[in-house]
Amino acid sequence: MFDEISPRYDFLNHFLSFGIDHIWRRRVVSEIRKRFREQLSSLQILDMATGTGDLAIAVARLHPAHIDGVDISKSMMEVGKRKILSKGLGNVISFHEGEAEKIPFEENSFDIVMVAFGVRNFEELKSGLQEMKRVMTPGGLMLILEFSHPAGFPMKQLYSFYSKGIIPLFGRLISRHKQAYTYLPETVATFPSGDAFLSILGKLGLRKLRQIRLSGGIATLYCAEK
Ligand SMILES: C[S@@+](CC[C@H](N)C(=O)[O-])C[C@H]1O[C@@H](n2cnc3c(N)ncnc32)[C@H](O)[C@@H]1O
Repeated sequence: MFDEISPRYDFLNHFLSFGIDHIWRRRVVSEIRKRFREQLSSLQILDMATGTGDLAIAVARLHPAHIDGVDISKSMMEVGKRKILSKGLGNVISFHEGEAEKIPFEENSFDIVMVAFGVRNFEELKSGLQEMKRVMTPGGLMLILEFSHPAGFPMKQLYSFYSKGIIPLFGRLISRHKQAYTYLPETVATFPSGDAFLSILGKLGLRKLRQIRLSGGIATLYCAEK
């Protein structure tokens, strides 16, 4: 599915979120800056389900040692490669084809493992998260940005209307893909969020669990340490 929508993915992402997705990714950047203030230049980072590389590109502004992006969709990463070359980031970010459930790296390879809007798509959520933990160094940081469920009035009602009415309509018209943008609200509705997601991370043995609700709960940033 992501191979098919890759040419229009970036445009639709920013258009349908009114650009707020950039603010959410910047929150990931600020969490990394806070936690690793003195060690930024030595950081080895994995961006799982990197797609077209927007999170990796946002984090590159911290000048880490290296960012590896991994994704199952070659076409998404092709779009990403063109972007990193045009931004002069070819020596900071590299892309690799691979799946979350079998990450093509040794254990304890990364200080940070992050993923934006990817875990919801994993074939096997728990084995994907387990793999992410495996490749993290002890004391390393896991950052997971994902859609969640706004709870309060009027955000809950507005978001429900927008995600079930507007997103599928414009998504279908612009991406010319029938299911991709109905799949989005459907998977968001059924995916665990908030405390339920933190409890999954806790059961994997991760600690210092935190959740930061963004934009009234439309998205949440989950932080955990190995
Ligand atoms: C919604 S996109 C997010 C891309 C990017 N992280 C961003 O913030 O724009 C989800 C990505 O997850 C990838 N993906 C889905 N399942 C995967 C898996 N099991 N392993 C690796 N990547 C996966 C898809 O190919 C797609 O590029």
